[in-house]
Amino acid sequence: MTSNIAQQDAAVADKAILANSAYADGRHLAARQSLYQWQRPRYDLPGIVVEELAGTSGTVIDIGCGNGTYVNRLHRDRPDLQVVGVDISAGILADVPKPVLVADAQALPFGDGSADAVLALHMLYHVGDIEATIKELARVLRPGGVLIASTNSDTDKQELDRLWARAAGDVLGVPEGPGRVTLSSRFSLEKASGYLGAVFEDIRVRELPGVIEVTDPAPVVAHLASYEAWADRSGVPFHETVGRAAEIVAAVIATEGVFEINGLGGILICRR
Ligand SMILES: C[S@@+](CC[C@H](N)C(=O)[O-])C[C@H]1O[C@@H](n2cnc3c(N)ncnc32)[C@H](O)[C@@H]1O
Repeated sequence: MTSNIAQQDAAVADKAILANSAYADGRHLAARQSLYQWQRPRYDLPGIVVEELAGTSGTVIDIGCGNGTYVNRLHRDRPDLQVVGVDISAGILADVPKPVLVADAQALPFGDGSADAVLALHMLYHVGDIEATIKELARVLRPGGVLIASTNSDTDKQELDRLWARAAGDVLGVPEGPGRVTLSSRFSLEKASGYLGAVFEDIRVRELPGVIEVTDPAPVVAHLASYEAWADRSGVPFHETVGRAAEIVAAVIATEGVFEINGLGGILICRR
């Protein structure tokens, strides 16, 4: 029998769910991104990518570019670069500056060595075959080019995991409900160097720890609700669980003044 984790992993890499639901537009991604405005320290991730591309000229391909956070920033700060945004979802590309392409990271419509840099930011955990995709990214990268990848740690936002399990338990009438769907675990920060190290010899990791403190449940609720595309995999009535989580967060804020979430993300700068 297929385990619950294996089923969740398959759903996290399901192209139809990704393109037609989770990232059909930028709404759910924006809800998750917005939680970081309450994080201290606050990292300027696009600024870090711009910094890491200081020695790069020519073509940068942003694979899984989503709503274009990095494409927009590169257009602004590095107008000398040719930036191409690629995503599996046509809908999410609607407002991303052109040129953009709808394509699967696992089979890119670019020639060997055609990019001076490739970005794969918070997206490798969504591809079906992670090893093959990393080889594909390396194929389009010119010798000496740089791949910049990012993801989250297995320990990232564990308070949300506990909150979900407690809310789901309350809804189901059991002490602890099923764990929430987590996106990054297939390619977490702990696993990323191993995957990337199979192809890239030189990998530098920049860890980005922070503490998110909210005094209003709304951004936490929006974050949990942004997993709606995987609602039928949650093993619990999804919207009811989000509602119960909102009550729990509101109660914590009422007694402690704040709801705290520890975050840990990371950026990997890779060369062959
Ligand atoms: C979590 S979002 C990250 C967006 C952006 N890179 C960022 O960091 O803000 C993941 C993106 O990867 C895209 N994606 C998922 N699987 C993909 C694939 N196989 N090929 C191309 N894009 C993919 C999704 O549609 C989504 O826009």
